[in-house]
Amino acid sequence: MDNCLVELKDISDERGSLVVIENLKEIPFEVKRIYYLYDLKNDKARGFHAHKNLKQLFICVHGSCKVLLDFGDNKHVYHLTSPNQAILCEGLVWREMFDFNDNCVFLVLADKYFDEEDYIRNYDEFLELKKGEVYD
Ligand code: TYD
Repeated sequence: MDNCLVELKDISDERGSLVVIENLKEIPFEVKRIYYLYDLKNDKARGFHAHKNLKQLFICVHGSCKVLLDFGDNKHVYHLTSPNQAILCEGLVWREMFDFNDNCVFLVLADKYFDEEDYIRNYDEFLELKKGEVYD
């Protein structure tokens, strides 16, 4: 699966814009955790890990940034430039976030509570696990 971009519906009028995300509607999971990254540095990339079992939605609610998703056999860089764009990240995917611009605020919705045991922080281990995957 490598088309992970989701265009969220933008409800706009002369007062501005509103984007709504509801469990199991715009996203195929129920949200258990919300976190956001801010005060990010343009030259300091983040991520560099995969998750064993986690579904996430990434949104750049302010500013812009790039997200690299690496599926083992192919990679894609998404450029998030608008709060109505989101990336649905599920399955075994290595991710890196970088090129944070304009005081980027990076919002993440996740279907599980934080669990450091769920992280794969070693790229070679990620590739090994990918090899053993029956499906993606
Ligand atoms: P990490 O997920 O590695 O950040 P990023 O992928 O943005 O580079 O998390 C950074 C630190 O924050 C790490 O020590 C784990 C901690 N953390 C929590 O305690 N709870 C959370 O929900 C998250 C996402 C991270």
